[in-house]
Amino acid sequence: MDKVLSGIRSTGHLHLGNYFGALKNFIRIQDSYDCYFFIADLHSLTTHPHPDDFHANVKTILAEYLAAGLDPEKSAIFVQSSVPEICELYVLLNMLAYKGELERTASFKDKVRKNPDNVNAGLLTYPVLMAADILVHNAKWVPVGKDQEQHLEIARLLARRFNNSYGTEVFVEPQNMDFGKGAIKVPGLDGSGKMGKSEGNGIYLYDDEKTITKKVMKAVTDSGPTRPFSEMPEPIKNIFSLLELVSDTDTVQYFKDKYNDCSIRYGDLKKQLAADICKTTLPIKARIDDIYNDSQYLSKVLRRGTERARESASATLKAAQKAVGFRDF
Ligand code: TYM
Repeated sequence: MDKVLSGIRSTGHLHLGNYFGALKNFIRIQDSYDCYFFIADLHSLTTHPHPDDFHANVKTILAEYLAAGLDPEKSAIFVQSSVPEICELYVLLNMLAYKGELERTASFKDKVRKNPDNVNAGLLTYPVLMAADILVHNAKWVPVGKDQEQHLEIARLLARRFNNSYGTEVFVEPQNMDFGKGAIKVPGLDGSGKMGKSEGNGIYLYDDEKTITKKVMKAVTDSGPTRPFSEMPEPIKNIFSLLELVSDTDTVQYFKDKYNDCSIRYGDLKKQLAADICKTTLPIKARIDDIYNDSQYLSKVLRRGTERARESASATLKAAQKAVGFRDF
């Protein structure tokens, strides 16, 4: 059975970008594939979180995963740092990853621009650790949003380079699982760019109704269309993109028609969007706290998940080590 793997950094809460960009697709296919879902706590260390927050961040993401519908009976759910095979493969892959190509990664350049005082080696080799996450399970499918596609490309490059360098076929080249629709980018409500934790423009699965409504009502708009069928400016397009994720097609069409005949009232559009986001997220939110507080359940989930993940990872690592030339004494 083909393997599917996806992960998320343990910083903050899950937002709509995480949910619609990766998690929802993953939840949909849990019955039909060999599934692995993990929390990238090592990746979160690039920004030096306070030690008091490090563990709580993992627990938050774990509880939110489970509340959103990830099923530990079907998927192996684990924390990255509990699978040491990942770091061992990371070392091997680092020998095949070149400084120049890592420096050209868009996410690296973006981080350097935003945090010039923290350009650490972990940040530079972030895509190599991500490749190790994926390749150590030989996952064929990796549901991720558009922002992670370049990282996935690097994972394919390293898989190919490893196979070619050692004359082996240890690794398969992973592909995004986007169901032929292309990877998605969930926009923020601030009129530009993607929804993200570091962008501070997220709507979180943990937000309550009042918070969601407030955030949506504050979304950037303009004075409205003045000509029929005029091109939508970016902030309005973003609102419609979100509407398409959470509302039914009739509702989307209703507001598109209103836009096209210039009778749209953005207040009504936003009210509808807020209500439909709440319909999606509030049932998830209602489960989060109970799961978070059930430490026994969480440790059981992770024990089972880690066992499955290590079994899968150690088989691939052994094959990679053999290809590199490791031998028993
Ligand atoms: P992270 O934690 O930033 O995001 C987790 C997942 O959510 C998706 N995502 C989005 N998709 C669409 N629109 C958005 N606005 C949006 N924001 C986030 C991301 O594409 C991602 O799929 N490096 C990864 C974590 C990671 C990983 C892996 C993922 C580490 N190792 C191996 C897959 C496989 C990251 O920082 O994602």
